[in-house]
Amino acid sequence: MNPTTTSVPLATGLPAKFVWGVATASYQIEGAHDEDGRTPSIWDTFSRVPGAVVGADNGDVACDHYHRMPQDVALMKGLGVDSYRFSVAWPRVQPGGRGPVNPAGLGFYERLVDELLENGIAPWVTLYHWDLPQELEDAGGWPHRDTAYRFADYAMLVFDALGDRVDTFTTLNEPWCSAWLGYNVGVHAPGRKDFDASLAATHHLLLGHGLATQRMRAAETRPHNYGITLNMGTADPHGDTEADRDAARRADGMGLRLYLDPLRKGAYPADMVEDLAARGSALPVQDGDLEIISTPIDTLGVNFYFGQDFAGTDEQGRTQDANGEPIVRSVLPDTARTAMGWPITPERFTQLLVRLHRDYPGLPMVITENGAAFDDQPDATGYVADDDRTEYLASHIAAVAAAREQGADVRGYFAWSLLDNFEWAEGYAKRFGIVHVNYETQERTPKQSALWFRDSIAALRA
Ligand code: FCB
Repeated sequence: MNPTTTSVPLATGLPAKFVWGVATASYQIEGAHDEDGRTPSIWDTFSRVPGAVVGADNGDVACDHYHRMPQDVALMKGLGVDSYRFSVAWPRVQPGGRGPVNPAGLGFYERLVDELLENGIAPWVTLYHWDLPQELEDAGGWPHRDTAYRFADYAMLVFDALGDRVDTFTTLNEPWCSAWLGYNVGVHAPGRKDFDASLAATHHLLLGHGLATQRMRAAETRPHNYGITLNMGTADPHGDTEADRDAARRADGMGLRLYLDPLRKGAYPADMVEDLAARGSALPVQDGDLEIISTPIDTLGVNFYFGQDFAGTDEQGRTQDANGEPIVRSVLPDTARTAMGWPITPERFTQLLVRLHRDYPGLPMVITENGAAFDDQPDATGYVADDDRTEYLASHIAAVAAAREQGADVRGYFAWSLLDNFEWAEGYAKRFGIVHVNYETQERTPKQSALWFRDSIAALRA
């Protein structure tokens, strides 16, 4: 790898023992969709629905990481990261989502963990990053209570095999996306559009998290670090009006408090329960569920991309939609945008972390994802001089340092993502990697942002 050429100053203000990493997810990089006994997940099915994914792309091949894993670990070693956050594909390890372990599928993760450890990189396992076995969706999916128990069984298959070598287990990645985008908005797998189903999915995802955490902890013979990763932003009122303040309250409730309150306080937020009741909906809570969901965890994984404002009126000034529901309209801050159209709001990252520290105290945080897609222009060698992404990373890492100065207990930062990869409904069109992937040849080329990240880590440790 080359020296970095960017004029963006290296990161400062973080301690030598801060954890630096890169993150990926199984369906986004592995490919090998039908090898060694893997069965389809909801993303294999959804990506074949016409119009569901830009370019009709799918994860059949992706970055071919399943066959290029040692080379990808070598890339990480070259960057000098402490840790690699990857996810395990449930349908590889337990085809169909029930029954015994599939040794061939599990073997891939055994080899990955060993390769990482041999290279001095700590494996950070996410058990579920959205690839639900299709058979479990056919049986009702996350809106169906039994799925939570199936998840805990699967978690134990992974834990029993890897718990001797892996210290950190994250149960779920971004349950809001699974529940809301997958079951209410329908833009992610499985593509359903049913508000009550998405509420039930939320509760059963959290229940699955609690059940899995309790079972792993009960089975351990040495301490592990357990947690969950949530995607969070900030929800500020667009204007100084009662309607906008109420819209911000609702957005924050559905996006953040609906998850963190049961996890940390053992109760769903009273105002959200009231709002839901007003529209005839309720979370399907049974006796004892909230004790399970609020079982102690060790780390909160924070995924941050941008913050936004909310208005309680639509563009015509109406306060209710056609169904009589209150308007909660996202208004993106007036800043530069990434290729996703997402505003670049590092100061709101600091705001979020300080607020989490205040409202949910006593829980160490790790940034498990942060990064940006831009329209990269590779040169003839595949090198991308991505000043935009480098600046995004620099400003958001500085935002983490600022939050720590205000007391937020943030202990690590994982860049999303190691590689350009399958960006869900956006297919391969959106590139988040700090390493460029040529999808024709599968050649990997570290971008300038990767070199800046490498040099920053080295400088902070020096
Ligand atoms: C997050 C996902 C991750 C990636 C980034 C851009 O919501 O967890 O897989 O797609 O967004």
